[in-house]
Amino acid sequence: MALLLLQLGGVSGAARLCKWGRRSYGVTAQLVGDLRALVGDSNVSTAKVVREQHGKDESMHSCQPPDVVIWPQNVEQVSKVAQLCYTQNIPMIPFGTGTGLEGGVSALRGGVCFDLTRMDKILHLNTDDFYVTVEPGVTRKSLNAYLRDSGLWFPVDPGADASLCGMAATSASGTNAVRYGTMRDNVINLEVVLPDGRVLCTAGKERSFRKTSAGYNLTSLFVGSEGTLGIITKATLRLYGVPEATMSAMCAFPSVQAAVDSTVQILQCGMPIARIEFLDDVMIDACNKFNGLSYPVLPTLFLEFHGTENGVKEQVQLAEEITQLNGGSDFAWARDQEERNKLWTARHNAWYAALAMRPGCRGYSTDVCVPVSKLPQIIVETKEDLMKSNLTGPIAGHVGDGNFHCLMVMDLNDEEEVNKVKEFTNRLARRALALNGTCTGEHGIGIGKRRLLQEEIGEVGIEAMKQIKSTFDPKNLMNPGKVV
Ligand SMILES: Cc1cc2nc3c(=O)[nH]c(=O)nc-3n(C[C@H](O)[C@H](O)[C@H](O)COP(=O)(O)OP(=O)(O)OC[C@H]3O[C@@H](n4cnc5c(N)ncnc54)[C@H](O)[C@@H]3O)c2cc1C
Ligand SMILES: *[C@@H]1O[C@H](CO)[C@@H](O)[C@H](O)[C@H]1NC(C)=O
Ligand SMILES: *[C@@H]1O[C@H](CO)[C@@H](O)[C@H](O)[C@H]1NC(C)=O
Ligand SMILES: *[C@@H]1O[C@H](CO)[C@@H](O)[C@H](O)[C@H]1NC(C)=O
Repeated sequence: MALLLLQLGGVSGAARLCKWGRRSYGVTAQLVGDLRALVGDSNVSTAKVVREQHGKDESMHSCQPPDVVIWPQNVEQVSKVAQLCYTQNIPMIPFGTGTGLEGGVSALRGGVCFDLTRMDKILHLNTDDFYVTVEPGVTRKSLNAYLRDSGLWFPVDPGADASLCGMAATSASGTNAVRYGTMRDNVINLEVVLPDGRVLCTAGKERSFRKTSAGYNLTSLFVGSEGTLGIITKATLRLYGVPEATMSAMCAFPSVQAAVDSTVQILQCGMPIARIEFLDDVMIDACNKFNGLSYPVLPTLFLEFHGTENGVKEQVQLAEEITQLNGGSDFAWARDQEERNKLWTARHNAWYAALAMRPGCRGYSTDVCVPVSKLPQIIVETKEDLMKSNLTGPIAGHVGDGNFHCLMVMDLNDEEEVNKVKEFTNRLARRALALNGTCTGEHGIGIGKRRLLQEEIGEVGIEAMKQIKSTFDPKNLMNPGKVV
């Protein structure tokens, strides 16, 4: 029985040669049996459809299914399975909610997918010190629903309802980052299962403090590691008081330059603006059609102010002066919760609005980030490039951070168009690098941006990253083929 090899996903269970010359003995019936014993029968699946659901995210990267999917219930199980995989040289791929945009969950060499959605408890809320500890299956929306009556909230808000530990793994951010920071600023401690099964608490077991000078920052090392160093099984996150007053507004501009110049000036005067999002004319048009709205089809800023009643009034007045000096329209206000939801739902639906422009097509979202003062130049040049290349790419951006997306919509059956998009996105990334920016502000490196990472960080930087990787994961089993 133990010798029976399973044929899974067209990949033979027989010995597979891993990168760096180590042999993988693949996922055997014996291994699947051991997994069932460790996590329970109902928490293991080798069904094709299940494996295919876990072999791709929301990006256009093709599906690479794992050999088996497991749903661990607790950290002990994660640790025991990791130990088992480690001794048998089986690749391990952590899976949050699969909303990633860089192919992060693809099982490039097969192996065991750890779907963490069944570890979904909120373990500890501390309202005095403003933090919460969650298991990896808790999503950002479910956390905020749980916090509703506490007077606290968690601000990091990618467009999708992603898992909080997946967000830590990709160093995600969203529309509130300009005021509240990204995941990197809001993770206090992580519990991580290392490839060999050891359990690490990056800031020390159960600790949560606002600052420390105690050695290397291991928390920050795991934030953005995209599942390549270990499996995050617990996160302690920073919370914020719900502001007394909130106002949202939108403002249309005669040109991209005028909208982005306003952003730079608003930030330069030190205003603690909560959200400042840019949508170009193409994006506004798509949002109107998708959400049944009738916003003016012009370059537009969506803004939000948080603070005390008086503080917000002051911020609004100053922001409106700046936008008007740049030729912006009067602010259209969204005062009550319902109006505000309508406005921000339109923003959060931008991806689906872009896809709806060309039914049957697939999307790819760029996410370069540059110093804010360089934004006007890069957005204007990028719009010109899009026109010249005849590509569909509405722009939506977290411009307060210098970060913006071209939502590239393309026909995957049209090889010429796909190649043109690839060339365009490489040109855009290199344009950002030339302005001292980064090729990815929030989506991560995944499969597709490894070359760009090399250009961004240089030879010594890549070497240092590879050394870190091999220290934690000497057998290259943890999400292999990603990042470095
Ligand atoms: C419509 C839409 C809008 C989006 N908007 C934004 C945005 O504004 N900002 C932004 O930053 N992102 C955005 N994203 C991308 C995506 O939501 C984020 O990358 C998110 O952080 C992924 O979380 P996830 O739980 O879905 O992770 P997955 O897709 O499941 O995994 C992503 C990566 O993290 C690893 N991983 C997941 N969980 C763990 C864990 N517990 N331990 C270790 N590694 C793990 C995986 O192996 C993989 O490499 C958007 C996506 C969509 C579809
Ligand atoms: C360490 O990194 C975490 C996550 O990026 C961050 O929240 C924390 O402030 C950092 N600690 C120090 C002392 O810089
Ligand atoms: C531009 O692209 C569209 C498809 O998006 C195509 O129908 C059209 O022919 C292209 N025009 C030129 C000049 O290439
Ligand atoms: C990049 O940064 C360097 C050092 O600060 C500076 O000299 C250079 O002008 C910057 N490049 C651009 C395009 O701004």
